[in-house]
Amino acid sequence: MANRTAVTRLTLTDFRNYAHVRLEPRQPLVALAGANGAGKTNLLEAVSLLTPGRGLRGVEFPALARQGGSGQWAVAASVETPQGEMELGTGWRPTEDGEMPSTRAVMIDGIQQKSAGSLAGLMRIVWLTPAMDRLFQGAPGDRRRFLDRMVVLFDAEHAGRVNAFEKLMRERNALLAEPNPDAAWLSSLEMQMAESAVAVSAARLAAINILARHVAQSEHHGPFPWAALSITGAMEDLVMQHPAVEAEDIYRRELARSRAADRAAGRALAGPHRSDLHVVHGPKAMAAEFCSTGEQKALLIGLILAQARAARSLFGASPLLLLDEIAAHLDPARRGALFRLLESLGSQVFMTGTEASLFDGIGASAVVYQVDGGQLSES
Ligand SMILES: Nc1ncnc2c1ncn2[C@@H]1O[C@H](COP(=O)(O)OP(=O)(O)OP(=O)(O)O)[C@@H](O)[C@H]1O
Ligand SMILES: [Mg+2]
Repeated sequence: MANRTAVTRLTLTDFRNYAHVRLEPRQPLVALAGANGAGKTNLLEAVSLLTPGRGLRGVEFPALARQGGSGQWAVAASVETPQGEMELGTGWRPTEDGEMPSTRAVMIDGIQQKSAGSLAGLMRIVWLTPAMDRLFQGAPGDRRRFLDRMVVLFDAEHAGRVNAFEKLMRERNALLAEPNPDAAWLSSLEMQMAESAVAVSAARLAAINILARHVAQSEHHGPFPWAALSITGAMEDLVMQHPAVEAEDIYRRELARSRAADRAAGRALAGPHRSDLHVVHGPKAMAAEFCSTGEQKALLIGLILAQARAARSLFGASPLLLLDEIAAHLDPARRGALFRLLESLGSQVFMTGTEASLFDGIGASAVVYQVDGGQLSES
């Protein structure tokens, strides 16, 4: 059994700007250097599709097919996980009558899976992208998704819970929009919503606790500070104050009472989909949104590293990290410190930078690939 999470072979076919590429990184640190538009983020995106969901850009699957290519795309990988080595494959293609399916195909060890959900808990992957630089300033929805991804890292079932709640909520919205909604059906939907809402909030609180325990037990030094996380949300408050069955009942009754208001708003006004993640820079005791740009970046890196280490103590292996444009904002000393910290995680880390010199001094545990126009060469 491997005590790391790593991709030992990766093949992309007609994926984004790659017609065909294959890499077999043996080293834990995998650096991708190349000009803007070379294909660095696309490669990280391909790796991110080895977990359920729509990958690190969150786009629809047809967008991933190479323009001017066959119209279909595929990503195949040999991977090491704490559960053992396996072959993963995923891909998408239009149907024979030219329709665009919204789902992708997934194979595990050569066996076709019912859905991408089968990938849950196999490859644990954490990513950090430039789009997340404004996480602390941006919309609550982005922070909520960041939180839910952290929960999934510790508890692979969580993605299914969130999807189930959202599906029920959409069904109720649609039903409320009808002139004479079936009352029994509404009640039944609301009961199921209450169950999954409480499960979602309870899992979020559990994950926050895992991270807090890990932070309390860790030594703190170096340029990436620790973070204190809390959730601002009526649903999480409810779950903290009441046993689960009572919390379900209270939320279910609230849904029944707010049907008219929810119909007018076109959405459910209360629930776990309204919660927000609050982050505090630990050493400074300062809310993250009041920290400087550089401090926020360091805090985010610290938070990602803490998640990786907490997951390592839970599962015996750190998750695989995808760090897009990680080196750009850091001075050489911080960059060096980051490389050493990443090495100490023991799992694989893919990172990108526009110049190979950003990875100078990265050491023997790294391979640097030069990316150019959808081609890779080892430098
Ligand atoms: N479906 C597609 N088919 C073909 N090319 C695509 C497709 N989607 C994106 N591209 C192209 O892939 C190229 C590489 O994109 P990518 O985001 O990986 O670049 P990058 O190396 O990360 O650059 P940057 O340093 O600017 O972030 C871009 O020129 C983009 O237009
Ligand atoms: Mg990029």
